[in-house]
Amino acid sequence: MTTTPSDLTPYAELGGEPAIRDLVNRFYDLMDELPEAYVVRKLHPESLAGSRQKLFEYLCGWLGGPQHYVEKYGHPRMRARHMPFAIGEAERDAWLLCMLQALEEILPASAAREAFRERLVGLADFMRNRDG
Ligand code: HEM
Repeated sequence: MTTTPSDLTPYAELGGEPAIRDLVNRFYDLMDELPEAYVVRKLHPESLAGSRQKLFEYLCGWLGGPQHYVEKYGHPRMRARHMPFAIGEAERDAWLLCMLQALEEILPASAAREAFRERLVGLADFMRNRDG
């Protein structure tokens, strides 16, 4: 049987582990650097090493690749895990500012990248747990 692009998971289409690792690293570098991202940076621990690893593991599984996150931590329950942090529009927008810039810099333009972008925007909005 031949493999057509539509048989591939988004994870594979986007470039697999190296691409997701580079994306997450650029995302957190931007969160660290951009003054506009301080509103979301200040919610995170001083060292972003654990955040980098967890987001990498989560995104691999969410995109149809290896389920590292679920194997280590169980069901993602991502919205519940974010409840301790006040996330309103400003926090959502700061998170997306970093993520969408990282996406454009790291992943070549493709239909898979656009589909990924739309899912990320939807998930970031779903993570809001405070008005404003
Ligand atoms: C919308 C705005 C968001 C804000 C302000 C936010 C903020 C945070 C904060 C403060 C943490 C805790 C630090 C840490 O454990 O690394 C965290 C953890 C995490 N976030 Fe977000 N986040 C947002 C959206 C998202 C989205 C859209 C995703 C997935 C695509 C995501 C994935 C994760 C993961 C996987 C963790 C680690 C959870 C764990 O402890 O196991 N976050 N986030």
